[in-house]
Amino acid sequence: MNARNGSGRFPRLLEPGRIGTLEVRNRILMCPMGDNLAQEDGCPSETSMDYFEARARGGVGLILVGSVAVSWPEGSYNPNQSALSDDRMIPAFAELANRVHRHGAKIAAQLSHGGVTAVNDMRDGRPLWVPSAPRPGSPDPLMGMVTPDEQALQSRPMRAPTAKVAIHEMTKDDIRWLVGKFADAAERARRAGLDGVEVHAGHGYVLSSFLSPAKNRRTDEYGGSTENRVRILVEVLEAIRARVGRDFPVWCRVDSIEFDEPNGITPELACDVARAIEAAGGDAIHASANGLAGSALTYTKGHTTHEPSGLLELASTIKKAVGIPVIAVGRIEPEAAEEAIAAGRCDFVAMGRKLLADPELPKRLAEGRAEDVRPCMYHYTCISQIFLREPVRCMANPSTGREAELEFGEAKRSRRVLVVGGGPAGLEVARIAALRGHAVRLYEREDRLGGRLALAAETYDPNRRMFEWLVRQVGALPIDVRLGASCDERAVEEWGAEVVVLATGGLWPKPSIPGGDAAHVATVDDLRAVFEGRVELGARIAILGGGRAACGLADRFVRRGHAVTILEPSGVFAAQMGLPGRWRIVHELRELGVTLVPHAKVEAIEEATVRWLDAEGATQRTDADHVVVTTGATASQPDFASKLVGPGGQALEVHRVGDCAEIGFVRGALESAVRIGRAL
Ligand SMILES: Cc1cc2nc3c(=O)[nH]c(=O)nc-3n(C[C@H](O)[C@H](O)[C@H](O)COP(=O)(O)O)c2cc1C
Repeated sequence: MNARNGSGRFPRLLEPGRIGTLEVRNRILMCPMGDNLAQEDGCPSETSMDYFEARARGGVGLILVGSVAVSWPEGSYNPNQSALSDDRMIPAFAELANRVHRHGAKIAAQLSHGGVTAVNDMRDGRPLWVPSAPRPGSPDPLMGMVTPDEQALQSRPMRAPTAKVAIHEMTKDDIRWLVGKFADAAERARRAGLDGVEVHAGHGYVLSSFLSPAKNRRTDEYGGSTENRVRILVEVLEAIRARVGRDFPVWCRVDSIEFDEPNGITPELACDVARAIEAAGGDAIHASANGLAGSALTYTKGHTTHEPSGLLELASTIKKAVGIPVIAVGRIEPEAAEEAIAAGRCDFVAMGRKLLADPELPKRLAEGRAEDVRPCMYHYTCISQIFLREPVRCMANPSTGREAELEFGEAKRSRRVLVVGGGPAGLEVARIAALRGHAVRLYEREDRLGGRLALAAETYDPNRRMFEWLVRQVGALPIDVRLGASCDERAVEEWGAEVVVLATGGLWPKPSIPGGDAAHVATVDDLRAVFEGRVELGARIAILGGGRAACGLADRFVRRGHAVTILEPSGVFAAQMGLPGRWRIVHELRELGVTLVPHAKVEAIEEATVRWLDAEGATQRTDADHVVVTTGATASQPDFASKLVGPGGQALEVHRVGDCAEIGFVRGALESAVRIGRAL
């Protein structure tokens, strides 16, 4: 790896480090992330090996395989979760380890038992294991904000004929059994050639339930004092050590806090836990976080924090309490990671979502190409997939979890590829076509690139980063970009295009309801003028449709002092955003004072009001000086597309990507672009 510029900007992040006897080539770890890519029998699959190998090839120091079940299927929570509960899993893990080692990366398994979160236990009719029966709580209504399709996916386990909800307070025999399972699994990890194990003692899983005073109300030697609550974890560590020896790296992931949980884990308690882990021979502490069980905001406040470096201060508190390395996590950008390591606030940084978006992140930093790192869009597609028990996916990077299926190499024959439209789909397809060696010309009718993504960039910073990345990538490739230029059949013919890719976006018409074409009704096409200050919106804005784009607009408008109401026909807002991100954005909009109206059927736009029917069919009115319409988009294709003829008079090869093929938001745009781009 060329460390020329990388060592300049990221010297500490890219310098080798040690966890116990384990030497890691840099300080970047891949977070443990359940991926739902394993085979149905708990063995890593070919797909999961491709997924991890891509990250190893991309230069990460150490890969943590997330949520490896120690007693599968007992205590497991995902349908395609990997496991080390039986010797038959060793060969597949050994192959995975080889494929990762080939690229100089290290690999460890995060050993877990889900306890109260073990959905597969419920599915199969086994009771959920807990230290003490949980106090009854009422579910957070925000978590009910799921679409019918998502609801169907989520409820699959409960529809199994064996499904049963029952709780089991673990006996001392159960504890002994579980401790043995962790030790067995760790030994298998070592036999498979893995480089270490991380004991998952966070996130509400069984070991963390013992640690949390809110969840553990036992009166035996496993409850009460901190020493008692940490006992099970210490026994797990000791049992693992007895089996794998002093030299095999073993560490723990713990919660440095349980946000909003009355009597939950505090940073002080987390420091005590960390000291106990160190005393029991743990080689490092991975400082994650959790929150109030059953709260919709737990995930984006806790382990998958929405706040940049949101958990770093907590990691640095633990760092002061122990002498072993501390791994920090939680939306830590490379620059922040560099600073934190240099300042001694942590020793390693685990990155999750960023490595899903760009497996080559570490390599690009080392090559001095940080600005080429494909950014995470923080749309929570990845974790939402896991909540829905589906394979991991990434909105910014359609290839994640489908590395082999969507890989592309050099084209067999270089052709002239003309792309019509410079929105996300057009940019991505042009980028891939150029990388594959085609000659690419791109027409964009407007005087700037980006299409709808350029608008989305105005409402959410991660969208801006993606927009800028795409434009930068296209700019750096030999792509002939024609801005402010409309394409027609003559332009296609004159250049001698052999392939045309239409990426002209969707149509966003004014609504066909009474008053729909009034002057104070704006569509998506009018937004650029609004953002550029050429059109002033009135004090009261009604937004028709409550999708992700509408929520982004509401956020922007309300912050600029407008009174904003969103009228959404269904019960779900920001449906294009993954679950925990959706719950957060809805919460934030409410906090900001946006009025979110579900089940609103808009009937007419009047002079200064919008008339709509509520869920009961009663007529309601919302005052609005301007109405912004975000619904009713349809796919479209330019007229000239049907007239295209190639050299020799035969029909030209024409493809459609993005919204002009099917309305699919940025995720659909990028995915269709990859599928077409790799086939050109
Ligand atoms: C798709 C996904 C799956 C996850 N699964 C796990 C898991 O199995 N075990 C775990 O400890 N944390 C899990 N997490 C949390 C991550 O390890 C990490 O704390 C989180 O992604 C924040 O880091 P990031 O901002 O770099 O993504 C998961 C996160 C994501 C996005």
